[in-house]
Amino acid sequence: MTANPRIRPRRLRANPGIRRLASETRLHPAQLVLPLFVREEGGPMPIASMPGVVQHTLDSVKGAVQNAAAAGIGGVMLFGVPSVRDATGSGATHPDGILNRATRVVGDEVGDALVVQTDLCLDEFTDHGHCGVLDTLGRVDNDATLERYREMALVQAASGSALLGLSGMMDGQVAAVRETLDGAGFVDTAILAYSAKYASAFYGPFRDAVESTLDGDRRSYQLDPGNRREGLREAILDIEEGADVVMVKPAGSYLDVLADVAAASDIPVWAYQVSGEYSMIEAAAMQGWIDRKRAVHESVLGIHRAGADVVLTYWATELAGWLNNGDFA
Ligand code: PBG
Repeated sequence: MTANPRIRPRRLRANPGIRRLASETRLHPAQLVLPLFVREEGGPMPIASMPGVVQHTLDSVKGAVQNAAAAGIGGVMLFGVPSVRDATGSGATHPDGILNRATRVVGDEVGDALVVQTDLCLDEFTDHGHCGVLDTLGRVDNDATLERYREMALVQAASGSALLGLSGMMDGQVAAVRETLDGAGFVDTAILAYSAKYASAFYGPFRDAVESTLDGDRRSYQLDPGNRREGLREAILDIEEGADVVMVKPAGSYLDVLADVAAASDIPVWAYQVSGEYSMIEAAAMQGWIDRKRAVHESVLGIHRAGADVVLTYWATELAGWLNNGDFA
């Protein structure tokens, strides 16, 4: 033991200037994507379990994307909340279904200022709430679902979505959608594969947000939360199938999977900070138990540090505003 250590890591923490130079990870607004919900009927509606997040209308979403563009974020991910649902999720493939209409409205509103992305999954549109169609025994039918995803891909691409977010966790979904897009001439429409999507309790508030009617669970298609190796395998399969971007979801409880995928991937790796991750911080902040602004920043920074090039977060616009102010510089 020496009273005078020769090695002093604190030198690089001594004042704001040296801390700024020593900072290893920074967030930029362009690395943030805002998920948005658009409902088919009625006025804008607050989402009880996600304070500060609303279901937009085709009209109110325009203001939200203007603000997002002004803050300089990278893009938006659109989810539709239809007023009618059925067994095959037919609203998902109707050109005037809510998600496809919202895509056109948002595209007209923001032009190239934001990358317009869409959730390609059936759960918002099915009356049983599953991400696919069911067979006669009530099980999610992988290959029949792929046919529905192919149709969704065509309508979404034609509506102007630049990046299709394949979140259904069906085997072969990336290959099927890529083949269909290319066959129809949509060679430049990109695929964001929700590769490592876990069967998570943290999606709870989202199910409120889209008024999901799911009875049961998604464990026959989403990953077991304990499975790290399998998350990496799913990402590698999606890269081989032609994904342009792979994603890990949720983010905060899966940083090891994210780091594994980031180390193995030669394409961009994104992460989705999901509804429950949002609501936990909001709830604690409302109680005065944590510093909201610092906790929001730290939660997203940690996801970026673990390997995500881009983070989908419900705080995207607000966080971008803080970053633009230099609040964490
Ligand atoms: C499926 C989908 C879900 C989320 C995004 N896409 C829900 C699910 O798999 O149950 C969850 C997002 C969130 O919790 O913020 N369409």
